[in-house]
Amino acid sequence: MKYDFDRLITRTGTHCVKWDHHEMKGEVEGMIPMSIADMDFEAPAFIKEAIIERARHGVFGYTVVPQSYYSAVSGWLGRRFGWTVERERIRFSPGVIPALAFSVQAFTEPGDKVIIQPPVYHPFRAVIANNGRVVLNNPLIRENGDYRMDIEGLKKSIDKKTRMIILSSPHNPVGRVWNRDELKALIDICLENNILIISDEIHADLVMPGFRHTPTASLSDEAASMTITCTSPSKTFNLAELHVANIIIPNQELFSRFDLALTRTGINKPNVLGMVALEAAYSKGEAWLDELIPYLHANYQLMRDFVRERLPRINAAQMEGTYLGWLDFNGLGLSEPKLDELLLAKARVAMTPGSIFGPGGEGFYRMNLACPKSVAAEALKRIELAING
Ligand SMILES: Cc1ncc(COP(=O)(O)O)c(C=O)c1O
Repeated sequence: MKYDFDRLITRTGTHCVKWDHHEMKGEVEGMIPMSIADMDFEAPAFIKEAIIERARHGVFGYTVVPQSYYSAVSGWLGRRFGWTVERERIRFSPGVIPALAFSVQAFTEPGDKVIIQPPVYHPFRAVIANNGRVVLNNPLIRENGDYRMDIEGLKKSIDKKTRMIILSSPHNPVGRVWNRDELKALIDICLENNILIISDEIHADLVMPGFRHTPTASLSDEAASMTITCTSPSKTFNLAELHVANIIIPNQELFSRFDLALTRTGINKPNVLGMVALEAAYSKGEAWLDELIPYLHANYQLMRDFVRERLPRINAAQMEGTYLGWLDFNGLGLSEPKLDELLLAKARVAMTPGSIFGPGGEGFYRMNLACPKSVAAEALKRIELAING
């Protein structure tokens, strides 16, 4: 191993959400936060060095986005997913959530319905509702602990007011990496009903051994013509607060409408350090990512095996992608306030409660496994002690 993911890095005192602002801050000594989706690892040295090198120059005046930036984005998508994307089809956005909000504004009208598939990343619901559109839930189906999309339910729920679906691919929080057949079934229904697909692929690089991410838009020309793909190096390389995301829109008309929505707000270019970081990540990041994935997978296996052996009333969903474990605590038969008390106050482990992800999330907790193995092991031990006493 060239990179050291075991190293404990103190994040407290950096104003970070996870360690400085978690739910029980100040009330519970020594809490382990495993909540918000960033990593407790350092970004790779080649990204840090690229930022430092640029900062050393000391002048941060107006800058154009160089051709090499776009080549880095399309090069990455080509090498990782075999997806050919032209430079003209890439639009910068300061994040994926902003891109979701701009898409809702650009392509739907107030009162229109937008489909989501809960339990799902909760800002999906917020960007729809906050823009005066209507959330249409098509909950995932869970069978024997495995999740799939409800394709029949999707067909039935679409009506004249339904315009758009926001897809989480891979799916946060249940960890599914949607396969080609599932995506094709979804695309067919969306094509038949003229539903625009916003494919949030922010977790696309974080796919566990044995699985493969398929960009929705890469499946066919028709799929590409009705899909807006959101990508970013932010999850993969832990760069969330540098605010760089790239939105891929092959359809020229949709591209122009999206571009106009951003231009109206004055948002055009990444900040210069974000640009430098993205280029470094996408041109030099492969070897680092190839070490990160097995590390995350080992943390998942640790969690899964621990739960199977020591906590049989808890069920761990298979984490095919993302670094987010999805744990079902319903077998304990406790109400949500009691579960919170058990996990936060007694175990001193702060995970994200499943109910915030919508229907189907009740009694689940999302455990962020992007941390040193020793931290994951300690958290699991604490949970066992709290439950089994
Ligand atoms: C599915 C998904 N989309 C978007 C985001 C956030 O994107 P951004 O920070 O670029 O706005 C996250 C972060 O956890 C996520 O899980």
